[in-house]
Amino acid sequence: MPVFADVDTGVDDAMALAYLLASDDADIVGIASTAGNVPVDQVCVNNLGLLALCGVDDIPVSRGSERPLATPLRTAEDTHGPEGLGYAQLPVGDLRLTDYDAATAWVRAAREHPGELVGLVTGPLTNLALAMRIEPGLPRLLRRLVIMGGAFDYRGNTTPVAEWNISVDPESGSEVFTVWGAAWGLDEPAHLPIVLGLNLTEHAMMTPAILSRLAAAAGSATTPMSVLDDRGTRSAAANPLIRVLEDAMRFYFEFHFDQGEGYLAHLHDPLAAAVALDPDLVTYRQATVDVELTGTLTRGMTVADWRGHWGRHLNAHIGVGVDPEVFFDRFITRVGPFAAALG
Ligand code: BDR
Ligand code: CA
Repeated sequence: MPVFADVDTGVDDAMALAYLLASDDADIVGIASTAGNVPVDQVCVNNLGLLALCGVDDIPVSRGSERPLATPLRTAEDTHGPEGLGYAQLPVGDLRLTDYDAATAWVRAAREHPGELVGLVTGPLTNLALAMRIEPGLPRLLRRLVIMGGAFDYRGNTTPVAEWNISVDPESGSEVFTVWGAAWGLDEPAHLPIVLGLNLTEHAMMTPAILSRLAAAAGSATTPMSVLDDRGTRSAAANPLIRVLEDAMRFYFEFHFDQGEGYLAHLHDPLAAAVALDPDLVTYRQATVDVELTGTLTRGMTVADWRGHWGRHLNAHIGVGVDPEVFFDRFITRVGPFAAALG
């Protein structure tokens, strides 16, 4: 299955990429680096470093826009660490970026795999919106699109009502939802994007116990993490990928703890990656989605019209149910042996 991943790496984006790399049913044909959790150049460094760590040298990585469509960039080093990977250090390899940008990369990948490409976006929708301006037929070239973004009938994580990926670039979110819906119309709902908001992804709660299971599946000895550990304690895992993921997750655990959510972390993006490969992991409701662009208190909010009040085309399958145990079992079953092979 050819997969194109658009990421703002980011702790959970890195986990999502690890999942895709570990999945035999996925052939990653390109990675778009999007400004979001950290500036775009840092996202590029992180994507290239992760590939180097995993011994992968044949996946093209492209640089995206430096800023959202209409507003200055905001970043989230408080959530993901100063370089986006928490306390983790990635190797600096000799991999290089493509000489074309991320929007062009989207279009090239879609044209090279017409009707087959699975698109995954786990960052702001800036580069996908730009790609759709270059190739208005993009929605009809893709087999499937999975977006991690929004919060449906649920509170936000960036403002009281807005989720991070949409909040960073609300204009691109609105453009993607509107243009995609119009491209497919009412007749073919099977091709509407799958949209996974916080209402769904916050069910994917990574804990120190689950992380220890991952290390065990990789055959890597490790010390289970605890809220009582000194902040910034580094992983003792022998396996290089497990060590990086644990050092990244440690920062993410601490952030969630400081938010009053417990010593755990939401794996938004890995859940989206798993759904990109297997949509049956989640249950859905169809709706028309748009993004609030002008509200004085609600800018960036994703509004779902469940009942057709607007009289507009449906444009999303919104994830409403997931069994986190099934997801984590699959994550460990795939990433564990993949890490073991690197060890
Ligand atoms: C999203 O925001 C980012 O910080 C995460 O990587 C995820 O994609 C969750 O709101
Ligand atoms: Ca992300």
